[in-house]
Amino acid sequence: EHASGNEKPGYDFIVVANRLPVDRVEGDDGELSWRRSPGGLVTAIAPVMQESDGAWVGWHGSPGEELEPFENDRISLIPVPLDEEDLELYYEGFSNSTLWPLYHDVIVPPEFHRTWWDNYKKVNKRFAEATAKVAAHGATVWVQDYQLQLVPKLLREARPDLRIGFFNHIPFPSPGIFSQLPWRKQILEGLAGADVVGFQRTADASNFLRCMRRYTDRTVKGSLAIPPVSSEGNSASLNICRAEAHPISIDTRQVAEMAHDPEIMARAKQIRHELGDPKTVLLGVDRLDYTKGIRHRLKAYGELLADGEIHVGDACLVQVASPSRENVERYQQLKDQVELMVGNLNGEHDTMEHTAIRYLHHSYPMREMIALYLAADIMLVTSLRDGMNLVAKEFVAAHTDDTGMLVLSEFTGAADQLTQSLLVNPHDIDGMKSGILRALRMDPTDSARRMRRMRRHLREHDVASWSKAFLASLAQPLPIDSLV
Ligand code: G6P
Repeated sequence: EHASGNEKPGYDFIVVANRLPVDRVEGDDGELSWRRSPGGLVTAIAPVMQESDGAWVGWHGSPGEELEPFENDRISLIPVPLDEEDLELYYEGFSNSTLWPLYHDVIVPPEFHRTWWDNYKKVNKRFAEATAKVAAHGATVWVQDYQLQLVPKLLREARPDLRIGFFNHIPFPSPGIFSQLPWRKQILEGLAGADVVGFQRTADASNFLRCMRRYTDRTVKGSLAIPPVSSEGNSASLNICRAEAHPISIDTRQVAEMAHDPEIMARAKQIRHELGDPKTVLLGVDRLDYTKGIRHRLKAYGELLADGEIHVGDACLVQVASPSRENVERYQQLKDQVELMVGNLNGEHDTMEHTAIRYLHHSYPMREMIALYLAADIMLVTSLRDGMNLVAKEFVAAHTDDTGMLVLSEFTGAADQLTQSLLVNPHDIDGMKSGILRALRMDPTDSARRMRRMRRHLREHDVASWSKAFLASLAQPLPIDSLV
């Protein structure tokens, strides 16, 4: 049974994320409509929610607008408002100019501002309150990602009856880097309010536990962070928190089904044809983000053209860079840098007939993405740091005929699972060039064997098994003897 307004008893299962799975968009005609939100988080959780009768608490993507709860695509949505100031301080500021670069190996320097932190606390409180209001007694609440790290503790204080999980979709840094954060203790304590904190990689979970040990009063024992016994000799009011690795995945079957859709297959052919039917189509698909290693990739590709190892007309690189966080200065700088590089390389290597790089600063619906994956021979995922990277998994899953090859950065979470890909270090331009050439020249029986193995892995480890494993762990009571 569900809450409508303030009525009890509320929802038994709630996902809390910065974004709702849909964004409010205004068309040219001024008409408002809903569009699926960008990024890996929404891609992963939307199918989970469609299967469960729960609610999703999050922001609906337009500042200043307050909306009543509504339903979209079989999911109950509970909007949390953000105004212009929240957007600037909590979202663009603390989330995406402090935490995002800090958690991605300080690829760009994180900025620390107290006004951003204050607003981050305020917005986290708003999310916790909105959730506490609609959760049924004893409900399971699953909080998502770095924007909401204080929510588990706030929620536990308001509603000790809840079962609280947290999943971090991005990397968790080592103590050496995490220690820069002036509010490191508060963030760790915020997370520790969860019964289970999930990470993409074992390395992320152990970084988190090392940070807990170093910067909080908790005792770390195995995967558990145990609160100190208070002066009354009673720790019942504080929970034990368990850290675990749960690598996220994709809806493998849905991707494979789309890849067999005659319309999508025809579209893939058409894309290749429109590119001039080159022998090899290389593909990059990323949010336009400095963590993705787009410049490193372009550099390697440009050198291969200059060296005469690859010829325009024989090969074409399609680079989709979807617009992201466009008000954040670093993202604006990156866009300029990437566009300058693309312009230079195309100016140098294009012919009247053919282009070296087809650059697209757009985002596309899933069906068009699958057609692009099918049209491509070699997928380039060259992130400098990436929590998981679902694009790599989608490419493999779409190639149900086992054609194609994946060149994958070892700094992605996906590299732990897609071990049959050609792993590269994106900082090593020569190494990346050999990786690309190796993919180009690989014996098809060798690449087919690798693609088949990776696809089998993705069939056995899809997004449903990811959420099932996390939620099963969250439901499991703590073994008492683990406390002794
Ligand atoms: C990554 C993050 C998500 C985020 C997405 C898109 O996948 O892990 O939390 O939603 O990027 O970024 P945005 O800032 O547009 O929500």
